[in-house]
Amino acid sequence: MPNKSHFNSGHRAINQLRKGGALHSSTITGVQASYTVHGIFIQDAVEFLKTLPDSSVQLILIDPPYNIDLDAWDSFHNYLDWAKEWLDQIYRVLSDSGNCVIFGGFQYQDLKKGDLLEILHYTRHETALRFVNLIIWYYKNGMSAHRFFANRHEEAVWLSKTKRYYFDLDSVRVPFDEATKKIYKKDKRLNPESIEKGKNPTNVWEIGRLNGNSTERVGHLTQKPAELIRRFVKALSFEGSIVLDFFAGSGTTGRVCIEERRHSLLVDSDSQLYSYLDKHIEQIESDLFLPKYRLMKSSSIHTVLDEIAFVNQQAQCDPILEEHSNE
Ligand SMILES: C[S@@+](CC[C@H](N)C(=O)[O-])C[C@H]1O[C@@H](n2cnc3c(N)ncnc32)[C@H](O)[C@@H]1O
Repeated sequence: MPNKSHFNSGHRAINQLRKGGALHSSTITGVQASYTVHGIFIQDAVEFLKTLPDSSVQLILIDPPYNIDLDAWDSFHNYLDWAKEWLDQIYRVLSDSGNCVIFGGFQYQDLKKGDLLEILHYTRHETALRFVNLIIWYYKNGMSAHRFFANRHEEAVWLSKTKRYYFDLDSVRVPFDEATKKIYKKDKRLNPESIEKGKNPTNVWEIGRLNGNSTERVGHLTQKPAELIRRFVKALSFEGSIVLDFFAGSGTTGRVCIEERRHSLLVDSDSQLYSYLDKHIEQIESDLFLPKYRLMKSSSIHTVLDEIAFVNQQAQCDPILEEHSNE
């Protein structure tokens, strides 16, 4: 009987890369720097992007405005024309193993509004970015509706720069409970190691939205739950790599990056980002195991990137490449 793994597209891709002399990007292991660096920039997103060197970022994670008049920052005359300005920069600034996650929704009925479908259409037809996954963020708490079915999800598109994007599925697997593990372990067809690792979280993620009285709230109107951001940060970037959020809002991405030992670049046109981020940090400071970090609030992008390069180099520098066993 043929080995089933011969039909597994992941295995086939790794074999092909081996034959071609290249390593799969999932073989990258990170850098344990003695501290992580977090640059905070109060600046327009597009202006900031223009200052970033090519191929400098591992993960772009953004939750953009959608022109639904939530606040002064959420109103545009021509949404797509504006969105194209930052969408056009993404491919250039991502590294070859890089990923991009864009949050949004499909539920806006007025054509003037922006929506994720239009963004996806543009990236597919007008940029070299590759579509990897659509993730459905499902939550049980939300507004009621009478003229349509009440909305209980938002989406995020995951795009990559190349086929060799970084993806660490093991870091975000969902553990099986003990009873299920016991049953599965009796099944000789299942690999005990895989049972221990847990299951693929799939592309539908049930994570509660932050209620008005949630203790995680820091005051920003559209703050995302840290748990949601964490899954992307862990799976699509590695320790010591750079995560960019150019619609940082309250700085949830920065908070998660501090906790997960990634460097971050946080950009928002609103200077309240400073105080929101301070509140996020107050929440995590009591954690005994909080990794060391350095905030850089009024430095140029080049100073911040130099500092990241320095601290990564100190930790014996570049990401170590190791070949995974393919068996
Ligand atoms: C949806 S919120 C992001 C919330 C964030 N995910 C969080 O968890 O806190 C979008 C943010 O984009 C910022 N923004 C809007 N237009 C911008 C621009 N042109 N450049 C930079 N930031 C901008 C707004 O100030 C707002 O804080």
